[in-house]
Amino acid sequence: MLKVNDTITYTARDYANAETVGVYDDTTVFVPQMIAGECARVRIDYVGRGVAYGSVKEILTSSPARVQPVCEHVGKCGGCVLAHMRYSEQLRFKQNKVRSVLRKIGGLDIDVPPCMPSPLPLGYRNKLSLPVRGRRGNVQVGMFERNSHRVVPTARCALGGDWAETLVSDFVEFCNRYGVEPYNERTFKGVIRHLTGRYVDGQLLVTAVVNGETDTDWSSLVQSLSSRFDRFGVFVNINTAHNNVILGKVTRHVSGIEYIEGEQCGVKFRLRPDSFFQVNDGVKDMLYACVREQLDLSETEVLVDCFSGIGLLTNTLACPRFDTYAIEIEPSAVRDARDMAELNGTPRLVNVCGDVTTELPKIVAANSGKRMTAVVDPPRKGLNPALYDTFRQAAPDCIVYISCDPATLARDIAALSDAYEVAYVQPYDMFPQTDQVETVVRLTHRKEEIC
Ligand SMILES: C[S@@+](CC[C@H](N)C(=O)[O-])C[C@H]1O[C@@H](n2cnc3c(N)ncnc32)[C@H](O)[C@@H]1O
Repeated sequence: MLKVNDTITYTARDYANAETVGVYDDTTVFVPQMIAGECARVRIDYVGRGVAYGSVKEILTSSPARVQPVCEHVGKCGGCVLAHMRYSEQLRFKQNKVRSVLRKIGGLDIDVPPCMPSPLPLGYRNKLSLPVRGRRGNVQVGMFERNSHRVVPTARCALGGDWAETLVSDFVEFCNRYGVEPYNERTFKGVIRHLTGRYVDGQLLVTAVVNGETDTDWSSLVQSLSSRFDRFGVFVNINTAHNNVILGKVTRHVSGIEYIEGEQCGVKFRLRPDSFFQVNDGVKDMLYACVREQLDLSETEVLVDCFSGIGLLTNTLACPRFDTYAIEIEPSAVRDARDMAELNGTPRLVNVCGDVTTELPKIVAANSGKRMTAVVDPPRKGLNPALYDTFRQAAPDCIVYISCDPATLARDIAALSDAYEVAYVQPYDMFPQTDQVETVVRLTHRKEEIC
């Protein structure tokens, strides 16, 4: 019987999320930071009913897919859990993950193609949200340790670019020099909870998430950023909630630009700090191109883009031949979406601010009898089960589902399998070095032969 602190010789048989899984003495053992096929001396850290978790003491047989991680914090920081794998192995891991989750949760035996690589396996993130902890005069900004709320101070994160390193160092220096107090999660005291930076098309938006109203004078932060960035804006977001949600409801502009302005995928856009925007520009472009390819809109009378964000994808799909509805719950994103429709003169597009679960049935009722096509791109929790009946009733010819969590994707497509079959699956590596994977699925109505 395994006990905590035992040392065992462990062989990693397969992957289970970011960990490897093996069996020792009839106990299923999970060990991170290994590669399937490797053998290691492992210390047991936790034993539960029939399962145990361990950590590597020494790799005995190393896989050819093992590499030296580029960041010294790997293993400690909860970010890059796959950084010990060669990039080709990371892609194999993600292909496998989608295939096995679709099978285990969705009961779907689907041949999943290789995961499409990111053009940049490192330095790809256009947004970082970092907790701010420590003490007055010794502020720490970084990532949380895996399964903990201890911050690993990270001067340079391998996932952000040079912009992030510059921002973090200026921000820490500002807090320390002016005695700004970081947040304390136990006492709920202190001022700064998080630092968020977004850098798109050479423009930076910085948001300091603060624990209530503050008289902090931001001018020297603004001054130091102005010597490093041509176009930037500083914002304060107020969050007094005693929970893990990063942003509160109120964001105030402090200085500089109020939004990022640019043109991507042939669409002019404005992006405010609170709105969702895909974090990996290169993969976003590939993903949107894939969605456009998968949608045959030739017979469509109504297109509905659910969970549409600021609407970059929606604007590339909208067309004078049919009505397009975009549904998004976040008011700041809908504001960006309405600006976008105006900037681009997008035809027949209605931007609806609200919950897809309540707004989609209204759109379906108002367009009864028309041929419909849908795109859904929900957050990790997937679709609200109430939407299954809405889709059955609306019976769009095809639904293109963009998912950032294969588990909820599998649950949703299994729930809709009486009406829809999976016609196409393609994983994308939106988040290299992490165990997260983005997947595009085309669901075709069983009455239809071609979407
Ligand atoms: C994964 S993002 C997708 C955004 C967009 N498709 C894109 O590519 O930029 C999910 C979006 O859904 C929005 N959202 C979350 N829950 C929602 C709901 N119940 N109803 C409508 N929108 C929601 C979020 O604010 C976010 O903008």
